[in-house]
Amino acid sequence: MSELVHRPRRLRRREGVRALVREARLAPENLILPLFACPGEGVRKEVSSMPGVFNLSTDQVAREASAAFDAGVPAVILFGLPESKDETATGAYADRGVVQEAVRAVRRAAPEMVVIADTCLCEYTSHGHCGVVREGEVLNDESLELLARTAVSQAAAGADIVAPSAMMDGQVGAIRAGLDESGFEHVAVMSYAVKYASAFYGPFREAADSAPAFGDRRAYQMDAANAREAMREAELDVMEGADFLMVKPAGPYLDILRQVRDRFDLPLAAYHVSGEYAMLKAAAQRGWIDEKRAMLETLTGIRRAGADVILTYYAVEAARALNRR
Ligand code: PBG
Repeated sequence: MSELVHRPRRLRRREGVRALVREARLAPENLILPLFACPGEGVRKEVSSMPGVFNLSTDQVAREASAAFDAGVPAVILFGLPESKDETATGAYADRGVVQEAVRAVRRAAPEMVVIADTCLCEYTSHGHCGVVREGEVLNDESLELLARTAVSQAAAGADIVAPSAMMDGQVGAIRAGLDESGFEHVAVMSYAVKYASAFYGPFREAADSAPAFGDRRAYQMDAANAREAMREAELDVMEGADFLMVKPAGPYLDILRQVRDRFDLPLAAYHVSGEYAMLKAAAQRGWIDEKRAMLETLTGIRRAGADVILTYYAVEAARALNRR
């Protein structure tokens, strides 16, 4: 007779048992699909560093959003590539701006889909920084007014949620006040509360044509080494009225996700960013990893670390894989 009493393997014997005791669950309803809206009609231009991700004209954004909704993905987050860029990011808060039009198009095509608008200036400024620049400095307080205007125009177009990602101090409060003054007190704020200055945003900047023309974003995005500072950023955003918190990127910052989850009770989002997606795609294209398994393992790890929802370019692929199981 065996001496062993404890045999964890009993609960791993077959899939039915494993599924019964599974702790973290990954489901299509946890996923948010990012889309890049551009001018024109019938445009589907693939981003070279992000296979399967496209710059899409409004009509194509509507098509892609409907297909995602049909696959079980409940939400999209919209980014914009405007017709032209300038010093004051006019395209970010234009009534007929590219994101504003994309919001309306998704509303029409998939009325039940949750529409989130990314609220930042970097895609719309000629210098590619996330705020107003003077003498080589990204000015904080001057940028807040433009971010609030942007959020209000996105809400007016029909966004359910605005997601400020500029990392300006006080942006959540300024946007909350702006929305409330304009009668949009029902529009929620998903704050990119904890956003690190990361090499993993590289492919996104190709997709959104938003690489800074000079310098980098280290004077406003966070230093990769800091965890306590992340708690402070999250706390400030809670105080300013955020409805969701976000940690970004996801994979290299799973400890931060766990800490934010343990400290704060707001719904928590994680952004599985462009570089994380590109790495998996590149390895899979070379046949070096099993893409589907690596994708699901990555997203499950992000859920296990504490994320309620995950923004990922894999949203539709993952939803389809999960539906087939
Ligand atoms: C805009 C913004 C960025 C991302 C999301 N919102 C780029 C940046 O900060 O440079 C990155 C997302 C990704 O890499 O997938 N500020």
